[in-house]
Amino acid sequence: MNIRTEKEEKIQCDILVIGVFEKETNSHTKMIDDALNNEFSNSVKRKEFSGEANQLKMISTLGKLPAQKVLIVGLGKKEEYKLETLRRAAASAIKVAIASSAKKVVTALNEPATDHASEEQRIATLVEGSLLGSYQFNQLKTQNKDKEKQVDELVIVTKANADKIIKKSEILCNSISRVRDMVNLPGNLVTPTWLADEAVKLRKLGVKVTVYGKSDLHKMGFNALLSVAQGSVQEPKFVVMEYKSSIKLKETYAFVGKGITFDSGGLNIKPAKGMEDMKMDKAGAATVIGLMEAIAKLKMPLNVVCAFPTCENMPSGTAYRPGDVIIGYNKKSIEMMNTDAEGRMVLSDALSYVEKEYTPTAMIDIATLTGACIVALGYWATGLFTKDDKLAEELTAAGNDTHERVWRLPLWDDYKDNMKSDIADVRSIGRGYDAGAIEGATFLSHFVDKVSWAHLDIAGTAWSNDGKHYFTKGGTGNGIRLLVRWLEMKMM
Ligand code: BES
Ligand code: MN
Ligand code: ZN
Repeated sequence: MNIRTEKEEKIQCDILVIGVFEKETNSHTKMIDDALNNEFSNSVKRKEFSGEANQLKMISTLGKLPAQKVLIVGLGKKEEYKLETLRRAAASAIKVAIASSAKKVVTALNEPATDHASEEQRIATLVEGSLLGSYQFNQLKTQNKDKEKQVDELVIVTKANADKIIKKSEILCNSISRVRDMVNLPGNLVTPTWLADEAVKLRKLGVKVTVYGKSDLHKMGFNALLSVAQGSVQEPKFVVMEYKSSIKLKETYAFVGKGITFDSGGLNIKPAKGMEDMKMDKAGAATVIGLMEAIAKLKMPLNVVCAFPTCENMPSGTAYRPGDVIIGYNKKSIEMMNTDAEGRMVLSDALSYVEKEYTPTAMIDIATLTGACIVALGYWATGLFTKDDKLAEELTAAGNDTHERVWRLPLWDDYKDNMKSDIADVRSIGRGYDAGAIEGATFLSHFVDKVSWAHLDIAGTAWSNDGKHYFTKGGTGNGIRLLVRWLEMKMM
């Protein structure tokens, strides 16, 4: 979809999109009433349209306006309006436009604004909503390719010079789409090797990419990653991507993503129902690949390391067993009590390695780590775990800015009691059904030494079950806008 701006809304197009607050009118609705025999006012009288958030009404202009149709989007109560309202409205509008086979869409949705956002912020948000809302995952369909629909051209009505801001939003949304693709592709296609190759592609953007294979991992002592991988025929990989800004800087920010290409549970096998969704267990790794791509394309003035351990969690005659004791990269012995708690195993090696090798200023891991996080927070918040109050504040603020919201849960040492092993240094899981998300984070904390560190549990936010708003059923790409925003705070 090509995106550009125009100062004037009266241009030829398939659909003109306008927004209206609840029980209000504006210059656009007046235009409709003037040109189309009071069609807007009459539809309100007929109770077909009230302006409720995300309500949609399509009106045919019968050649009386340059647009063939006008799509009116409800923006809800004026006093409740925020950027997220606009992001959702833009997505609803583009979804309808695609469904009605529109090719050229003009949008004035950014216009009626009562919030304190700038016109630039509104344009960025409008582009985000439109691009994210128009995402489709069709690459595995082989039939009826000619019936696939997409809007070719989106024209934003604004007097602002928005080229730069549009370009930036396009970069972000392209990376998000790429993450969604990686998450949506199934386990037979996306293997650990495939995921590593996807990272290698970033070399053409000037990113240094190192891929460690099985023999390297043996030498490095990545035994926690190797044990999870040993039940699968797929070779495990550990991938490090390094981006250095052209200016000399002493800070380095590190991100580590969980890359389980398929999580069957291993010998502690998962129930059949919903197991297919466990192709999403690589979302953390996909996010750090997408993040690195966005950072490099935006040429951010920062030094960043993104890393991910990747393997497949399978049951077999060679699989690791409950009760196995494993000594990984940092030499602590782990009594591994449930093969389905594999994410924390692979991350333990990766986190201690990245801290030791890169001594980052801050390190953030992102992982679909626990079902318990969904029990605690549902699908509207990413779990945030850190002992660093300042880091928690920053990530919370970045989440509120982007609406990729995070919610902090405690990481107190008291939780360590449950995870003491009788025979090893640490148990991989707790002893009951309490605080599973916190226990996952607590386990990880054993493998982080001094660095300021945060763990993001995206089990509930990496995947959309209903494809609402600017999501499509499947991977969400959640985390990219959040972490880019957080990095921008570091640039200020
Ligand atoms: N990948 C899962 C967590 C998950 C569940 C992500 C649902 C997204 C949706 C993880 O590896 C897992 O299986 N965790 C176990 C941990 C338990 C065995 C301690 C869980 O959450 O049940
Ligand atoms: Mn698991
Ligand atoms: Zn998992």
